Amino acid sequence: MAELAQTLNHFQPSAISEIFTLANQLKNEGQDILDLSIGEPDFPTPDHIRQAGISAINDNQTKYTNVEGTLALRQAISRKFKHENGLDYHPQQIVVDAGAKPLLIHAMQAMLNDGDEVIIPTPCWTSYVGMVALCNASCTFVPCPQDKGFKLQPQDLQAAITSKTKLILINSPSNPTGAAYSHAEMKEITDVLLRHPDIWVLSDDIYEHITYDDFKFVTAAQVEPQLYDRTLTLNGVSKAYSMTGWRIGYAAGPQDLVDGIKKILSQSTGSPCSISQAAAIEALQGPQAFLSERVEIFRERRNYLNKRLNTIEGIECHQPEGAFYLYPSCEKLIGKTTPQGLIIQNSNDFASYLLTSQGVAVVPGEAFKYDPNFRLSYATSMETLTRAADRIEAACHALSD
Ligand SMILES: Cc1ncc(COP(=O)(O)O)c(C=O)c1O
Repeated sequence: MAELAQTLNHFQPSAISEIFTLANQLKNEGQDILDLSIGEPDFPTPDHIRQAGISAINDNQTKYTNVEGTLALRQAISRKFKHENGLDYHPQQIVVDAGAKPLLIHAMQAMLNDGDEVIIPTPCWTSYVGMVALCNASCTFVPCPQDKGFKLQPQDLQAAITSKTKLILINSPSNPTGAAYSHAEMKEITDVLLRHPDIWVLSDDIYEHITYDDFKFVTAAQVEPQLYDRTLTLNGVSKAYSMTGWRIGYAAGPQDLVDGIKKILSQSTGSPCSISQAAAIEALQGPQAFLSERVEIFRERRNYLNKRLNTIEGIECHQPEGAFYLYPSCEKLIGKTTPQGLIIQNSNDFASYLLTSQGVAVVPGEAFKYDPNFRLSYATSMETLTRAADRIEAACHALSD
């Protein structure tokens, strides 16, 4: 009998996609579901960017492009890195892929051998775990406690490094916590990494533009130029420009690594969508004023939801610097009993209780390797957030000792 690959047994399907599918199924069955599980901005792609896509179609820019993306887009990305991050990357050092997600795994394939260890600060984005498994490498999870703002502590990083460590993933602002490293905090991390010259650094900066209250975004290669030769700085247009469906991610790094990724892309993605690339140029080079307007809307939602959650007995929520997620703890609710007589034993139980009793979809912390917490996305209307907060409050009040 034909057998499936063993690798499939080494990781789980994305828990976020599963919740999303379940919430949609319940909605289709006519239930009133408030979905806070979504990881994409609720704003439309700005009109000028959409028009650039339409023009690309009308101009017949509808054929394969270079494997690594068009020169025009890579030039726009090169300028973005220079102006926004103070980083010099020649267009040759830049690759574009069909989203940051596939680019992450293609980059890991270019860096990792079987049995290598990858340091992943937790809570972490669920997909990192599956990607590392697909490369036959193993994850070294380093917990970043809630009382430290969910940030990696330099001594914990140092303790996690072994002779097999090949890569560290840094994601600031983070999915799922929204935690973002200041210059001083990032420097503490890069100082440790400087002492370990054989470790690659992959900085996933996809939430760069979504930070609050004068927070200044920094990325690893900018904070520590000595890491430039072993850092891949990765970003994309999905989150900042509300372009999740256009599927454009990009990265820049040392030439040998980027050439390795190109080689993989030549046998996999082929080339990213030509129309989306044209739209991405407009995103990076066109008007940027809407970014701060949208961030202000996210900030109001963050403040509102965080405040509401912290008034609910049993829930403790940290105020994050960026992204559009909150990652509250439900530790104090563990052991309580639902009106249906079920004992809440972990965040999975709590999330399914919220969904079944109140129709609120959140993602349980198990998916992010840090429990007992759950992730809420506030990339949704204030009205939905208000109703969701009311329902979460009602669900928590209905629990008994
Ligand atoms: C941390 C992180 N990196 C990368 C991605 C993927 O972005 P893209 O839409 O460009 O594939 C996501 C999407 O949720 C994310 O949260």
